[in-house]
Amino acid sequence: MPSVLLVGSEATPFAKTGGLADVLGALPSALARLGWDATLVLPRYRGVQAGTLIDRCTISVGAFSADARFFEAPLRHGARAVLVDVPELYDRDDLYGTGGVDYPDNPRRFAVLARAALELTARRGIRPSIVHAHDWQAGLVPVYLKALYDGHPVLGGLASVFTIHNLAYQGLFEADWLPRLDLSWDLLSVDRMEFWGKVSFLKGALNDAAMITTVSKTYAVEIQTSELGFGFDGILRRRAEDLVGILNGIDTLEWDPARDPFLPTPYSVRSVEGKQAAKVELLRRYGMPTDDGVLKRPLIAMISRMVDQKGFDLIAALAGELPLLEASFTVLGTGEPRYQDLWQSLAAAYPDRIGAHIGFDEPLAHLVEAGADMFLMPSRFEPCGLNQMYSLRYGTVPIVRAVGGLADTVHDDIDGFVFRDYTPAALLEAMGRALERFTDRRKWRAMQTAGMKQDLSWDRSAREYVRMYKRLEGQRAKGRSRLDP
Ligand code: ADP
Ligand code: GLC
Repeated sequence: MPSVLLVGSEATPFAKTGGLADVLGALPSALARLGWDATLVLPRYRGVQAGTLIDRCTISVGAFSADARFFEAPLRHGARAVLVDVPELYDRDDLYGTGGVDYPDNPRRFAVLARAALELTARRGIRPSIVHAHDWQAGLVPVYLKALYDGHPVLGGLASVFTIHNLAYQGLFEADWLPRLDLSWDLLSVDRMEFWGKVSFLKGALNDAAMITTVSKTYAVEIQTSELGFGFDGILRRRAEDLVGILNGIDTLEWDPARDPFLPTPYSVRSVEGKQAAKVELLRRYGMPTDDGVLKRPLIAMISRMVDQKGFDLIAALAGELPLLEASFTVLGTGEPRYQDLWQSLAAAYPDRIGAHIGFDEPLAHLVEAGADMFLMPSRFEPCGLNQMYSLRYGTVPIVRAVGGLADTVHDDIDGFVFRDYTPAALLEAMGRALERFTDRRKWRAMQTAGMKQDLSWDRSAREYVRMYKRLEGQRAKGRSRLDP
């Protein structure tokens, strides 16, 4: 059976700060369904109880050495997660940092993750067909494979794939980390890990992985431009032949309005009446009135990390205009204090129309997707975006900017409203079109139906990954036989 070792820093149901967790929570099972033996390795953060102890060993990186314990937890369809337990590194309040400041030893924390994943595989003695690392936190996996394991009997010459979920996060650290991570100073060169005098885990992976993927076709093109390449566009253009975009899927069991335990009344594409009950419950949860007038008014929602990427500055520029629209708003998110404050003060000034919930609340996110009429995602850039896909599936019409995965999943005037320019005026124009369309019940229902009928399942994406894995394996096999005496 072909096998894949996946490595990343978060996955549902164990730990989540964003979409990466949704992806890593679902992709291994989707691959397993296609006949792949899939193992995902991630840290065992504070509070994670899942899994049974399967192995323990000493992991050393530089002068750091710790007794790592490995806990295995089953995922669907026979896939599994292995949680790496190193309390001095992972038993902390948060995943990456506290109070907006990253943990200073993050390079070590994620170097140990990469090492632990590779060491565990080596100890088991079974060579995976492919290693698939995700985002900078797993960036040292391809780097270590080349630098430390090239002649290894199990791991030597393994083909690695690296997936970019977000190029804005680059794992950038002082260069003097290199020796502390068992990496030689040679890596401090522009064609390896060096990035403006520092070392970047992301750049190491972009150079050392055999294939690079990202999470939508449009983003794969955008990151090769100086505008959205964050300084990595040159290397990505150079590797354009090995770079593919594979759109994320969504977990259609977790996100299914017909089976969602967080909704008061289930519903499906045949009848979306259950949305009304969800709307009432949602408004109630936000402490907003639920009289007929409010219920008739379209409800526009956001669920988001409150950061520049997500277009909060556009919304800030419209702060005076939003309350004048014939709409209500509910926002769920955490992030930069200035955006949290903005929404909280809007909610305080217009309690009947605007609700803000600052926090991370998964059950509430489900209720929002069901209870809202429209979902707003005016992102500056968006590698894939999952919430617009959840919205489509829940009959909640997305209003999005035409970037990255948003452009690839939302079709203007068919299942959503799309605007191009990153300007408050363009956003307002799209919202205006949506509000107007909402008054025509028949046309609105047709848009909801179009969205709910889209195939957004992981199956489609997993098939693309498998095709790529096989191609890569084939190339490796050819390469190896050429070298054979
Ligand atoms: P990103 O990964 O850039 O944050 P995505 O749209 O890919 O954006 O994924 C975000 C994921 O995190 C979605 O599953 C979304 O529902 C969830 N999410 C974001 N903020 C919150 C929050 N405050 N409460 C609950 N879920 C949230
Ligand atoms: C990143 C991106 C988001 C994407 C997610 C999962 O967090 O910001 O667009 O959906 O990763 O791939």
